[in-house]
Amino acid sequence: MLDNYQRDINYLRISITDRCNLRCRYCMPKEGLSQIGHDDILRYEEILRVVRSSVSLGVAKVRITGGEPLVRRGIVPFVAALKALAGIEDLSLTTNGILLERCAADLFQAGIRRINVSLDSLNPDKYHDITRGGSLADVLRGIAAVYDQGFSPIKINVVAIKGFNDDELLDFARLTLENPYQVRFIELMPLGHPGRDNLGKYLASEAIMGAIANKYSLSPVNGEGARMDGPAKMYRIEGGRGEIGFISPVSHHFCHLCNRLRLTADGKLRACLLSDEETDLKTPLRTGCTDSALATLIKEAIAGKPRKHEVRFDGPSLRKCVKNMSAIGG
Ligand code: GTP
Ligand code: 5AD
Ligand code: SF4
Repeated sequence: MLDNYQRDINYLRISITDRCNLRCRYCMPKEGLSQIGHDDILRYEEILRVVRSSVSLGVAKVRITGGEPLVRRGIVPFVAALKALAGIEDLSLTTNGILLERCAADLFQAGIRRINVSLDSLNPDKYHDITRGGSLADVLRGIAAVYDQGFSPIKINVVAIKGFNDDELLDFARLTLENPYQVRFIELMPLGHPGRDNLGKYLASEAIMGAIANKYSLSPVNGEGARMDGPAKMYRIEGGRGEIGFISPVSHHFCHLCNRLRLTADGKLRACLLSDEETDLKTPLRTGCTDSALATLIKEAIAGKPRKHEVRFDGPSLRKCVKNMSAIGG
């Protein structure tokens, strides 16, 4: 379905839980978040109903996120149920990778082929520090497991953080020499709980690209301008097996290309990551709304999708995105 600015809204990101087995410093407070009560989390059947309705309106691409989606019980049958829905052409998952080794075969069997793994350091101590307790070895084994299983593409999301991983940019880039992974650097957004703490730690894509290009020759994937893969601009080091991407929400708005809707763990439809406008679907779902009433609510949310976000990352309007990434799902 087209929104009011002629964008084809065909991508639904679903946060199935706001819980996480890590506490990344830029995402969560150390004590974790006040979690959404068990009864307030959408049940899988309710999510499936929202997905069916969204598909009837043109959604063809679905991504499962969290928090950490693999901590929610029953995810494998849920994936299989999504896979069985007619009309979904692309089904993918974003995870921190900690539980991936043990889930890889089941997820593949259930029908997922595309996995994005968040990984902000290749140094075990630094990884432990930024995630407040995570084990890098677990994630690396998880990535190896999805590779062996045949998942493709495998994308590695690196949130670039000044003073933290700016000394590892080349190590991440080198990963793509030997491995067919897409390593994507994401500009740190000053959102949610840590908000302003993140402000001074942002590193622009241009600077990262410059640092890599000093050492390796980077060529845009698919000739001329770099290929846009969702919001990522993709490049390759000559001779490398993988690709390097840059997601630049802070230095470049990509709102004009945005094709997304987000379903939060507590059942709200969010038309823009960076706007706190939400449409409550949980209440109507639990009070017997008809399929057509549900579709109308989704259509209204799409119609209300802003042309672009109004967040000024450098100052006063930060308050606008108060919900945490862990509940929205990135
Ligand atoms: P692909 O389908 O593999 O391209 O997935 P993706 O890039 O949409 O998914 P992923 O979960 O890996 O998202 C990468 C990150 O990019 C997100 O977690 C956000 O940090 C950022 N991002 C994605 N979409 C948006 C958006 O609409 N606005 C902003 N500001 N940032 C976004
Ligand atoms: N800025 C940029 N990316 C973020 N993510 C979480 N919080 C932020 C933030 N403030 C990323 C995670 C993960 C993806 C889903 O979102 O690292 O890769
Ligand atoms: Fe968990 Fe992802 Fe937030 Fe890290 S960024 S604490 S892995 S939800």
